[in-house]
Amino acid sequence: MRKPIIAGNWKMNKTNAEAEKLIGELKPLVADAKCEVVICVPYTCIATAVKATAGSNIAVGAENVAWADAGAFTGEISAEMLKEIGTEYVIIGHSERRQMFGETDETVNKRTVQALKNGLKPIVCVGETLAERESGKTETVVKTQVKGGFDGISAADLKNVVVAYEPVWAIGTGKTATSEQAEETIKYIRSVFADLYGKSVADELRIQYGGSMNPKNASELMAQPDIDGGLIGGASLKAEDFAKVVKY
Ligand code: 13P
Repeated sequence: MRKPIIAGNWKMNKTNAEAEKLIGELKPLVADAKCEVVICVPYTCIATAVKATAGSNIAVGAENVAWADAGAFTGEISAEMLKEIGTEYVIIGHSERRQMFGETDETVNKRTVQALKNGLKPIVCVGETLAERESGKTETVVKTQVKGGFDGISAADLKNVVVAYEPVWAIGTGKTATSEQAEETIKYIRSVFADLYGKSVADELRIQYGGSMNPKNASELMAQPDIDGGLIGGASLKAEDFAKVVKY
């Protein structure tokens, strides 16, 4: 059985003072959660978040990781640096990074390999744009992203990976994919992994939905057989909202 995983993606929000306050409010609200709870926070908040969540059921993640060990990579943060301060998860290949910061399937692959090599658990994002969906390319797009992003990654490593299906048109728009659309594409993504790794490996892989997931639509999305969790943007910035999603 796949344990559901609800992860917040704070994106570029929250100072350390705000992070401490939000986590303080969140902890008691999710203490009895049945799913795994993760908050992926800006680099500058990670140490604060790790300290504030100590002894709780909330794990902390980063929002990106460099593909190299160290060196001349101005502005990048290494896996070793993240591990040292207690980071457990890392989002890789978010559509905002693909669209605004030149992330490609190849760099997603390199970052994912590096994360796994260093014992970080990657949350690898895939998803189509509105134009791609409307021209019937959704399956081709996510298949290409999966094949490129997971090139050379072993079945053993896949056990430590979470995949997030985030249709770009549903992110931050208030326009959620219907539970049928989300289930259909996530089921397809699982079939792509089954072709690459075999059915039993694919059946163990956790695949989240992300894109305007909130307290109102979480339970319907989570009721779908192939949806194993959520990657939550806007609704993760308020303790009450995030807690309601966690308790979908
Ligand atoms: P929203 O929940 O704000 O739509 O963001 C989703 C997302 O991008 C999570 O990674």
